[in-house]
Amino acid sequence: MNDQQQDKPNVVLEQKKAADKAFTLPLRILRWLLPGDRIRTFVYLNLLAKPRKFLHRALNGFYRFDQVYEVLKGFRREFRGPFSILEFGTAQGYAFAKILYATRYLKMEDDVVVHGFDSFEGMSITDDEADQGLFSNDWIEGSYAASYDTLRDYCEKKKYRNYRIHKGFFEDSMTPELIEQLQEEQPILVWIDCDYYTSSVTVFERLLPILPTGCAVYFDDLEFNFGSRFTGEARLVHEVNSGKSAMTWN
Ligand SMILES: C[S@@+](CC[C@H](N)C(=O)[O-])C[C@H]1O[C@@H](n2cnc3c(N)ncnc32)[C@H](O)[C@@H]1O
Repeated sequence: MNDQQQDKPNVVLEQKKAADKAFTLPLRILRWLLPGDRIRTFVYLNLLAKPRKFLHRALNGFYRFDQVYEVLKGFRREFRGPFSILEFGTAQGYAFAKILYATRYLKMEDDVVVHGFDSFEGMSITDDEADQGLFSNDWIEGSYAASYDTLRDYCEKKKYRNYRIHKGFFEDSMTPELIEQLQEEQPILVWIDCDYYTSSVTVFERLLPILPTGCAVYFDDLEFNFGSRFTGEARLVHEVNSGKSAMTWN
């Protein structure tokens, strides 16, 4: 190593120190202006750290409906329909309405049918270990119970034509006829919000063989039990990705 190479890290370090110094100059002036550690700390935490944290979250935050628009625009650019978007676990229709609206906003109502699936009975009780919360059972029987008629009336009132609501348990509503129809009306986005591993498995067993390449799958509850691969939707993802399940991707 020659002298020049040896000097290099020190030069970089000095440059960094100078940049840091310039960056913290306003802070040092503020520190000098404010009397006492208590006031300085208060001002730092509330007037600097808090807005900085907020800005950081605002810029890097994740808004789940962003991807609905991204997927729709991406497919519109590259392919021609008919397409479908499937939501498993529709409940009162919060996400369903947002997804439907996205098709309207992007003028894709004639190209994309949005399907919602739910028993409308809310969460059921399951003994399956893969559905149990680590510390408590997160889901109470009947939570998220909703009205099929209310959701249908909402869609009618908004004059949507491109929706289907499938009332019933997934094992009953995902009929062979529907699976066949989805091969014509290819799914471009599958929205999994049914919380349980057991429910998601039912969906994937029927759907995975026909999902086209490029179809996006969104899992709403991946963080259940800190994202453990032994429970919840994360378990299903792990099984599919590692080839541990009998399900196959086409
Ligand atoms: C968290 S909620 C869905 C919330 C909804 N996506 C929203 O945006 O408001 C979960 C729903 O999944 C439904 N669900 C869970 N397992 C099911 C199954 N095997 N068949 C039908 N519905 C199921 C429940 O009825 C419940 O309404």
